[in-house]
Amino acid sequence: MRCGTTSPEFLRFPILPTPNRSSDMHVTLRQLKVFESVARNLSYTKASQELHLSQPAVSMQVRQLEDEVSLPLFEKLGKQISLTEAGREIFHYSCSIDRALQEMEEVVESLKGVSRGRLSVAVASTVNYFAPRLLAAFHDRYPGIGLRLDVTNRERLVHQLQANSVDLVLMGQPPDVVDVVSEAFMKNPLVVVAPPEHALATAGRVDFARLSEEVFVMREPGSGTRQAMERFFAERGVAIRHGMQMTRNEAIKQAVRAGLGLSVVSLHTVELELETQRLVILDVEGFPLERQWHLVYRRGRRLSPAARAFREFVLEEARGFVGPLPSTRP
Ligand code: PGA
Repeated sequence: MRCGTTSPEFLRFPILPTPNRSSDMHVTLRQLKVFESVARNLSYTKASQELHLSQPAVSMQVRQLEDEVSLPLFEKLGKQISLTEAGREIFHYSCSIDRALQEMEEVVESLKGVSRGRLSVAVASTVNYFAPRLLAAFHDRYPGIGLRLDVTNRERLVHQLQANSVDLVLMGQPPDVVDVVSEAFMKNPLVVVAPPEHALATAGRVDFARLSEEVFVMREPGSGTRQAMERFFAERGVAIRHGMQMTRNEAIKQAVRAGLGLSVVSLHTVELELETQRLVILDVEGFPLERQWHLVYRRGRRLSPAARAFREFVLEEARGFVGPLPSTRP
């Protein structure tokens, strides 16, 4: 279910507050926010991930809201939950309230102007290799702006864009399941890395098909790096031999270093290891995979002056602050 998809019937029969109500409802904004996320995702698990809450905390908020309205809001059919009629009505109002609050926040932020605004930025875990440098430079220029940075993987970034809960996102491939504005701002080459003692390290040019014999240390399924790698291998009809799976680039590098397999990583993550020769780039046909970093935000979102300043800063100056990448040639 998406906000704004309420059928005309709901609009013709709204729950209107009546002056002589026998009981007062004490619905809180928090209950509505949690309910809205569960209703939109039709999943307690996804809502708890989106809101960074435990599943029992999410269930409790929904139960409290159900107690307040004295009606069930969800029904269960097997493992799938769906909204009851009351749930659909409340969803309609929770979306309107959410929009009004967001509009209020945007107006307040624009009144503060660029010198005192607040800015929330969410970045892919791989972006975190250069995001602090960018934010520090931005903070030097606009010291009055309060910054909030969330570092997470691609899947969670897509949820955040769906929920329209952050000003700006820095990620790899922009999502096609959400209507967004996206602007490329910097290269993000993906390379195959190995320990220096690996047989392929001194083999010169390696055929892509030869990779089918190697084990790969993999990022988690929600990772953009992993998705790009899987797409590339699938396009070329080469099966990936999966080794260990890890959610952190740092852990992946240690695993490759320890001989647990090769890996495909962003060049941004291995600058130091290449410099100290703890890892090497393999000269594989088809690599580096040429990707770009994108600045992304939900289409229709009114960017605050602080967000507009950050957008301009990233698009025009990011490359200068991040500095040149090492060569992708071994
Ligand atoms: P990730 O990087 O693998 O840390 O999610 C984002 C991307 O490359 O799209």
